[in-house]
Amino acid sequence: MRESVASLPPGLAEPAVVQTAWWMTRPIQFLECGRRRYGDAFTARFVGAERPFTFISHPDAIRALFTDSRHGLTSVRRARLASLVGTDSIFLIDSGPEHIERRKIVAPGFHGDRIRFSEGVVREVTEREIREWPRGSSFSICPRMQAITVEVIVRAVFGVTEPGRGRQLREMLEELLRRSRKPFQPSLHRLLERIDRLLFAEIAKRRAGDPAEGKDVMSMLVAARFEDGSPMTDREVRNQLMTLLLAGTETTAVSLAWAFDMVLRHPEVLARLREGEEDDAYLRAVVHESLRLRPIVLFTGRRLKSDLQVGEYTVPAGFDAAASPWLTHTRADLYPEPFAFRPERFLGRKPQTYAWIPFGGGVRRCIGAAFAEVEMRVMLDTVVRGISLSLVDPRPERLKPHGMVLFPRKGVPVRVGARVPHPRARVVEPV
Ligand code: HEM
Repeated sequence: MRESVASLPPGLAEPAVVQTAWWMTRPIQFLECGRRRYGDAFTARFVGAERPFTFISHPDAIRALFTDSRHGLTSVRRARLASLVGTDSIFLIDSGPEHIERRKIVAPGFHGDRIRFSEGVVREVTEREIREWPRGSSFSICPRMQAITVEVIVRAVFGVTEPGRGRQLREMLEELLRRSRKPFQPSLHRLLERIDRLLFAEIAKRRAGDPAEGKDVMSMLVAARFEDGSPMTDREVRNQLMTLLLAGTETTAVSLAWAFDMVLRHPEVLARLREGEEDDAYLRAVVHESLRLRPIVLFTGRRLKSDLQVGEYTVPAGFDAAASPWLTHTRADLYPEPFAFRPERFLGRKPQTYAWIPFGGGVRRCIGAAFAEVEMRVMLDTVVRGISLSLVDPRPERLKPHGMVLFPRKGVPVRVGARVPHPRARVVEPV
């Protein structure tokens, strides 16, 4: 063990308790300091972690980390979610055949036709939402984005379209998201029971009818069969749905809030989005650039099953290594003027797999990535073409860590201006 530790990338010198407090309060400053002192990779020590934790940012090391499909989950990933989504959640099952089998079942819910179906839902919900924004009013855009992403999940993923039930479920899910963010949380037991009652009733309805007919993800999960021919139990269908809610709503809403923060600070980008041509290439580039400069997930970690080579160092099997989107996305060798918001860098050029990692990578790459990108494009497009918005505060939003997610500190306060009577809808391609 002594030999292995000696070959780790260099470590921050501060005591573990200082590193932990630093990481929890100012993670970006912490990462920047590691980069300044040690370059491409460095090792941190956190209180409560059994082993040192290595951060990497070079695409070659990230490729090596993501392409070994045997690497498992870090304990950080398990900590918060198990009580809400169950241990058979696709997010929490360790890497291996069981995880792959479940991914095969869940992933088609976020491809091709189903995304096209969801796109219509996203546009309709966003148009309705902005009609309710009075001219001259000011508010933080982040919670409004979250209201939209929750409704989209309720309708497109859970498939609950009946208005009364839909509203009830939406309100309960929003409360769950709000309360689960607080550090000291009295039991969520009662709330979860109410949500479960409604979800189990919906699952029973699908089982009684022909689930293959439904376009929503819940119908798909009910109709699905494992390789041995058995279906998912109701509890597992519920657990995968709750996973999609928790993994897919706040992440998309916060990413969108950041996208608005950046677009509204760059009038030339806003003008091009509003008046640009009908194809969605520029819109797509704006979303890619915004996810580059504001990757909201702090790191994507793995518990190593084999040694990981990082330049001249080796992180041994059994240790944790994590790709840092922030460090990778702000490397000047990959992105000249890395802190400038310049969507043009992605025009006519797809993001590179191991140099653009807002959705992680390998066999655990975000299952909803394509869905999230379409949601972001449609919501951004519908808002900027449908209504005029300006920022309340000219100063850039500051980053505020909350768990693993980087929020805009003030939620991006905006002021509502004139409405555009008949915005042209842009065709947003699903892939
Ligand atoms: C902009 C929005 C989003 C961001 C930034 C994001 C980011 C991520 C990241 C970083 C991971 C971990 C990947 C890894 O370990 O390599 C992940 C996993 C996951 N995400 Fe997303 N996500 C977003 C939206 C969504 C949406 C819309 C859904 C579904 C409705 C979703 C469902 C999932 C699931 C199920 C996993 C676990 C995959 C697995 O372990 O196999 N995410 N996401």
